[in-house]
Parts: sequence; structure tokens; C-alpha cells
Amino acid sequence: MEIYRTGPTTDRLTMRAMNADDAEAFYRLNSDADVMRFTHEPLCPSVDEARTAIESYPDFERYGYGRWGCFLKAGGPMIGFCGLKYLPEFDAVDIGYRLLPEYWGRGLATEAAHATITFGFETLKLRQIIALTIAENAGSIRVLEKIGMRCAGAVEYDGLKPLKYVIDAESKR
Ligand SMILES: CC(C)(COP(=O)(O)OP(=O)(O)OC[C@H]1O[C@@H](n2cnc3c(N)ncnc32)[C@H](O)[C@@H]1OP(=O)(O)O)[C@@H](O)C(=O)NCCC(=O)NCCS
Repeated sequence: MEIYRTGPTTDRLTMRAMNADDAEAFYRLNSDADVMRFTHEPLCPSVDEARTAIESYPDFERYGYGRWGCFLKAGGPMIGFCGLKYLPEFDAVDIGYRLLPEYWGRGLATEAAHATITFGFETLKLRQIIALTIAENAGSIRVLEKIGMRCAGAVEYDGLKPLKYVIDAESKR
């Protein structure tokens, strides 16, 4: 199995698997109440916890892909992540993204998500990609709509009732 630690590149971004050097930025992201508002995950308590989470992240070895850290080509630390995750509960591959608030509203999530979908279909040869988001997360829903995903209704996941969005490889041909 090929392991894609390097993700797609966009006009403004590079994407790669996180490493211990990204722990500070990963902590900032996952301890920010505005970022975490709609994720229903607990806030990350420390840089050490963030480092442990990065170092024990199994997805690249297990599936060959995962969530990639996003970096401005202009330079600087990680600004967020975007990427793919296999969800055994749905036997499906999910796109997810999260950016530090100072980078919101510049089209960066859309840019990263669009490149991720294209990578999933063209490089990984996936036939469908899904996304899960709670209905209150209007910004995330807008990103999903802008990359061509359609709502397939509410599902049960992790004790929540998120909306499931889908896009098929055929629709991109
Ligand atoms: C969701 C998120 C990644 C969007 O990042 P971003 O870089 O600002 O996204 P973009 O600039 O590419 O596009 C956002 C779109 O949503 C719109 N939007 C943002 N907030 C909105 C809101 N509260 N209501 C309606 N639309 C909203 C923007 O206007 C834009 O649409 P437009 O281009 O038509 O104007 C970012 O807000 C984030 O990291 N949120 C916290 C983590 C999260 O919730 N992740 C998703 C979990 S499912």
C-alpha cells in the first residue's frame, strides 16, 4: 500500500502529514473554543497532548491517507488541517477540515477541500467521499456546497445527528 504523507498542493497551500514540530500549532487549533464550537470534541489541554495525538495518529499507516496539516506557501507554521479519514461506521471516506480563526474567510478551506476531493478521486481512486457536519455549522456547510457536495440527510454518529454530505467520482468527470 502506498502511503500519501504528502497531500495535494493548491495555489496558496501545501499539505503534509503532521509531525512533532506541528504540536504547538495543533494545540492552538484544538484548544480554540471558536474552532472547536461545532466539533463536539473536548478542547486539547496541552502541547504535550497535541504532540502525543500527532505521534499516535494511525491513519497514514493504516489506510495510506489521513488529515494533512495545511501550510501557506508563503511560509510559517501550520494553519490548520484538511484531509480524508476512513470511517468504519459508514464504510466510507470522510473529508474534514479545521483552520485557525485568523485564516477564516479567505477561501482557504474551500481551496484545501477542493484539492482533497480531487486527490481522493484521481490519486486514491475513491468512488465516493462523504462529510459529516452539524446543521448549525453554516460555514462548513457552505464549504461543502462550494466543492459540489450534496446533502443526503441526517445520520447518527458519535451520539450526534449530523448532516451527511456526499460527492461521487462520476460527478467530477
Ligand atoms: C469551516 C471552516 C474550515 C471554513 O474555513 P474558511 O477558510 O473560512 O472557509 P472559506 O473561506 O473557504 O469559505 C467559507 C464560506 O462560508 C461562509 N460562511 C462562513 N461563516 C458563515 C456563517 N456563520 N454563516 C453562513 N456562511 C458562512 C463564507 O462566507 C464562505 O462562503 P462564500 O465564499 O460564499 O462567501 C472554518 O470556519 C473552521 O475552521 N471552523 C472550525 C472547524 C470546523 O467547524 N470544521 C468543520 C467541521 S464539520
